[in-house]
Amino acid sequence: MHAFTSEIEKARVEAIERTIEKAKEIGANAIIGMDIETSNMGGNNHVDIRNRYRSHNRARIEILHNVKYLVQINLPSVERDTEPMNLNDIEVDSITKRFEDTVAVDNVSMNVARGELFGLLGPNGAGKSTLTKMLCGMINPTSGTIKVGGYNIQDNPMKVKELLGVVPQDIVLYDYMNARENLAFFGKLYGLSGGKLRNRIEELLKFTQLDEKAVKRHISTYSGGMKRRVNIAVALLHEPQVILLDEPTAGLDPKNKLALWEIIRTLHKEGKTIILTTHMMDEAEELCDQVAIMDKGKIIALGSPRQLVKKVKMENTITVVPDKITTKLIEAVQKISGVKRSYRSYDENEKIETLKIITKRAEDILPDVVSAILSVGTKILSVELSRVTLEDVFISLTGRSLREEEEQL
Ligand SMILES: Nc1ncnc2c1ncn2[C@@H]1O[C@H](COP(=O)(O)OP(=O)(O)OP(=O)(O)O)[C@@H](O)[C@H]1O
Ligand SMILES: [Mg+2]
Repeated sequence: MHAFTSEIEKARVEAIERTIEKAKEIGANAIIGMDIETSNMGGNNHVDIRNRYRSHNRARIEILHNVKYLVQINLPSVERDTEPMNLNDIEVDSITKRFEDTVAVDNVSMNVARGELFGLLGPNGAGKSTLTKMLCGMINPTSGTIKVGGYNIQDNPMKVKELLGVVPQDIVLYDYMNARENLAFFGKLYGLSGGKLRNRIEELLKFTQLDEKAVKRHISTYSGGMKRRVNIAVALLHEPQVILLDEPTAGLDPKNKLALWEIIRTLHKEGKTIILTTHMMDEAEELCDQVAIMDKGKIIALGSPRQLVKKVKMENTITVVPDKITTKLIEAVQKISGVKRSYRSYDENEKIETLKIITKRAEDILPDVVSAILSVGTKILSVELSRVTLEDVFISLTGRSLREEEEQL
């Protein structure tokens, strides 16, 4: 029980309790800024509560910091979502898309949790873009359901559009306008205007590192990397929670690719939910929390890159160049649990003797290998690992390589 020192204190505590009740009722995920002073009674005794709709059904109540005390809380009525609170921003249930006799997406189900960076990895024609297009409502599935932010895409297409930012595989920009003009144009389509739009454009130009000189040129003079960045900026104009990126780094040189990875990482850190489509296994491995490997319209494997790689029963080689190879050294290495075989080998190219260690888990046993070698008084000049990659996962599941598919085209 509270011991009230004054009526004001009592009113304050009650008001806060009411706020908490109301917050629970509407499913708010935070009440912040409850630093309310009770000592000052004079003058400014209004209560100022802003109720913001952040994303789908998660309203947020914010009590302004300069509130002196609370007398009465008039929360605006909150439109309640008919869907239950949902931790998955994307839910795909048995989605199929047929184009005449092609089944582009074949009975795919998957969930993407809020804040997750989810990779769709697969060769050309796997169905990645078709799935992405269905996720943003650009095309309708033949069967199955898709929910974004808890909303069924077919029942609430406008709501879903608000939540989504889409960077399509084919760049959509006006060539005869510069970056700023493109952003202004698309911003207006999203209902932004005036100072708010201007500020957002400058924020995004900075975020995507488009310099002022380039910003003034027509898009037609931009490099592929720059166009991609403008396209990303367009997708972020309305501050969407969920971002779909369809092959954002395809065709980019390594420098531009890394710059884009940085942008994607930053969005991920900000808590955005991201679906990244790629046919580059290093990209999926480097960036994604979860990866769905797609082939011929189906998801053939799903998990974190580490989990997927662990499923492949493949032998790896650790190649060590020590300053000398002795029987004692080979024996010490052989004793390590997880080592299948170790042997002396001669590298024809480098003209050096190497120690080869065959294991199923190169990365896991590497520390033991290093300490075993050092323990027999041998110096290590270099170590190299052959790792199992997502490419190997794809090969072990399909018998083909991701790259092979591309080369055939
Ligand atoms: N509008 C369409 N009409 C007919 N077939 C289509 C259509 N769109 C896609 N397809 C077919 O669906 C399959 C999947 O195509 P999709 O573009 O989704 O693949 P993807 O994984 O994105 O490939 P890429 O890596 O080349 O972008 C392909 O066989 C493609 O030819
Ligand atoms: Mg595609």
